[in-house]
Amino acid sequence: MVDTVAQADASIDPIALRRAFGTFVTGVTVVTTRDEDGTPRGMTANSFASVSLDPPLLLVCVGKSASSFQAFNGADSFAVNFLHEGQIDISAIFASKSPDKFQSVSHDRIHTGAPILTDSMTWFDCSVHNRIEAGDHVILIGQVRAFGASPSAPLGFCRGRYASVNDPLPAGWLASHGIVIGYLIEAEDRLLFRADGKDGWVLPTARRRKADKRLMLDGGELSLVPEDTFLYSVFDVADSDPGYLIYRARLSDEGSAMALPADLKFFPVDDLPYDQIPTHELRSMLRRYMRERREKRFGIYMDTGDGGRVAMIEGQAQAWMQASHD
Ligand SMILES: Cc1cc2nc3c(=O)[nH]c(=O)nc-3n(C[C@H](O)[C@H](O)[C@H](O)COP(=O)(O)O)c2cc1C
Repeated sequence: MVDTVAQADASIDPIALRRAFGTFVTGVTVVTTRDEDGTPRGMTANSFASVSLDPPLLLVCVGKSASSFQAFNGADSFAVNFLHEGQIDISAIFASKSPDKFQSVSHDRIHTGAPILTDSMTWFDCSVHNRIEAGDHVILIGQVRAFGASPSAPLGFCRGRYASVNDPLPAGWLASHGIVIGYLIEAEDRLLFRADGKDGWVLPTARRRKADKRLMLDGGELSLVPEDTFLYSVFDVADSDPGYLIYRARLSDEGSAMALPADLKFFPVDDLPYDQIPTHELRSMLRRYMRERREKRFGIYMDTGDGGRVAMIEGQAQAWMQASHD
């Protein structure tokens, strides 16, 4: 072992100890609560641990020197928000002593009233189950009353620095979490398909629904025109099906120049491989897309017990910032 410093109990150096603790790889959370007047309070914390499934318990350690300590120590409830890789700035805000940490961060009440950060990767809304004195921290044990998880990539932390966690999503994760997010991606009169491994072609699927320039697909990355990404269809293929949310999008010029992930292929719009598209739902959605594309007017489909409906959208998309000022 390199750099091992054996320390006897009496002479433990807190700085060396902090450094040694810091070699443990963690995620980053923002723990939140409300003080006596209902004002939201929060701090960045990586001391989270899951504790029990039955009853559902988790813990986080809150430092007694934190200015929000009194709020955490007096509250009946708190929330733990796991941050995703795009939230280093949020981690910095909540690790600071800023008096108005919540001003620029959108948050909500879900169950207990503890603030849930709207854009967090995963959240747990808890009632306080127990508090345990532990040196310069208090271990706050929460009973989970409500929670939510999303497929975004987590923000990691190790040795005092943020770390990225590559490709964290196992195959099938989205399906087992309730929804498949598919994309109809067009570029130069061609549509993008993904080989399904069974001689068929399906739509590429993604991990996040958000219209960003960079689209993380299962198996690779593409660059899109974010202003041209819209919801197109919401349907199930069978009763047991997790449900599909399909967006239409356009590859950016930069994306057209990038190498495609190996299992993706563009097909000309007038020569789509209908015979190799495995489900009737997908085939009929593609036929509608082709029709609407010719008419340059797109609808949004929502399936219902009586065969579903399409709502046609009039006019061009506008930026919300602009539309809300008209
Ligand atoms: C990645 C990271 C993890 C942290 N983990 C904890 C933690 O688990 N417990 C804690 O009390 N403070 C932790 N801190 C420090 C607090 O976020 C920091 O002391 C903050 O200023 C507390 O806010 P407050 O004083 O407004 O309550 C962490 C900071 C960072 C950057």
